[in-house]
Amino acid sequence: MPGFKVAIDGPAGSGKSTISKRIAEQLNLTHIDTGAMYRAITYIALQKHINLDDESSYVFMQDLKVRYEKNRIYVNDMDVTDQIRSDAVTRNVSKVSSFPYVRRFLVQIQQEAAQNIDVIMDGRDIGSVVLPDADLKIFLTANVKERAKRRQKEKEVLGIKQELDALENEILERDHKD
Ligand code: DC
Repeated sequence: MPGFKVAIDGPAGSGKSTISKRIAEQLNLTHIDTGAMYRAITYIALQKHINLDDESSYVFMQDLKVRYEKNRIYVNDMDVTDQIRSDAVTRNVSKVSSFPYVRRFLVQIQQEAAQNIDVIMDGRDIGSVVLPDADLKIFLTANVKERAKRRQKEKEVLGIKQELDALENEILERDHKD
């Protein structure tokens, strides 16, 4: 897999995507946010009203082309960048990403996307599974309060106000599920 590879792993809200975007701009690397891919599958699964608890119902993915390009996420050329940040997606994405079938499918797409290019990829399993031979591996984390504050700011931009305590609990719950 030629090309310079940077892997950024770490928990929700630690700033992986923000940092990756900045590094990508400065070092002229392609950035791929793999969490956006898991979110995109979750969004489509919700749209299709499949049984989210049944791994075999995710075969619909076989007809999907998932692509992350220039900070946007596409499913079969449909831009779903805004839709994947909904609360419904955030609530269900840990479950969807727990299925080996879903992971195998997306890991393959991620490895193919990283082939032959200089890339910075962020997600939970990038240094361990997706790019085990990455030139640089970073595990980025932050305390729960900071992560909750980041999430609060993101939500404010979307016009949603939420208490810090509630967000901290949400983050702890998602850490546990992830
Ligand atoms: O980084 P994020 O919050 O957008 O990620 C959404 C979810 O996707 C997160 O709950 C865990 C999952 N995920 C994963 O299992 N593996 C990855 N490489 C990236 C994300």
